[in-house]
Amino acid sequence: MESGALLVEGLEVVYGRSVRALRGVSLDVPVSGVVAVLGANGAGKSTLLRAVSGTLALHRGAVAAGTIRYASERLAGRDPALIVRAGVVQVPEGRRVFANLSVDENLQAGALSTRGSALIRSNRERVFDLFPVLAERREQRAGLLSGGEQQMLAIGRALMASPRLLLLDEPSLGLAPRMVGRIAGVIREIAAQGVAVLLVEQNVTVALDLAEKAYVLDVGEVRLAGSSADLARTDEVRRLYLGEEETAAPDAASAPARPTPRKPLRRWVG
Ligand SMILES: Nc1ncnc2c1ncn2[C@@H]1O[C@H](COP(=O)(O)OP(=O)(O)OP(=O)(O)O)[C@@H](O)[C@H]1O
Ligand SMILES: [Mg+2]
Repeated sequence: MESGALLVEGLEVVYGRSVRALRGVSLDVPVSGVVAVLGANGAGKSTLLRAVSGTLALHRGAVAAGTIRYASERLAGRDPALIVRAGVVQVPEGRRVFANLSVDENLQAGALSTRGSALIRSNRERVFDLFPVLAERREQRAGLLSGGEQQMLAIGRALMASPRLLLLDEPSLGLAPRMVGRIAGVIREIAAQGVAVLLVEQNVTVALDLAEKAYVLDVGEVRLAGSSADLARTDEVRRLYLGEEETAAPDAASAPARPTPRKPLRRWVG
């Protein structure tokens, strides 16, 4: 395995005693580039990121089976702060920022595990280069920022921890198309700077555009996996996620109704 890569194998996650949110999930993220995880509400996307970042316990969840390795080290069961120090940093769902703290204070909070004032300074400069609007608003309370600016701050705060693997949970959620485009541009730039990105998205067009490779989760299982280009060509992705109509066969009207075939699991496309 490449050092620095993330390798998840046979991951099972449960919440409480009975809710099994992931079943036998395996995936890998190389040392650089963007990998996307797609799937409908409740598919288990956030659960997967929480398992990697070690934050399942905060949601009463736990890894029941399988392994998560990053740079050849096992992550499951490790303290979340140690996972951050190893370079794996999550931007959680819902762009949570500290509303009563200023932009600067939010960024400072992201640097708690970062050692050395020179590194913290250069991380802050990098954040302000990526998001000039945050530099203009550095004294402002985060709660007063727009939704898109809060998303920028949430990503910026994660960058303060010097990630080598960034876990992004639906960064485009609830944003206007122009802001989605800006955030996508920044994700591309972060990846170009050598940070690997595991991107969870419901906006499939954006995700497949950014990622080289993608996985489709369906009720806790990997249903499809492959290169983004190949996935975008599958009928399933086009119909279910890109909102395209299925082209009916010429004799469809006269054909007898067929029962829905059982979903093939973990089909590789391409
Ligand atoms: N804290 C929790 N306690 C119990 N069940 C949970 C908890 N969090 C998630 N679940 C369940 O686990 C499954 C996967 O949820 P998860 O939040 O990972 O899905 P998701 O793909 O991120 O969905 P969304 O697109 O809505 O964010 C769902 O059935 C959900 O109800
Ligand atoms: Mg989610």
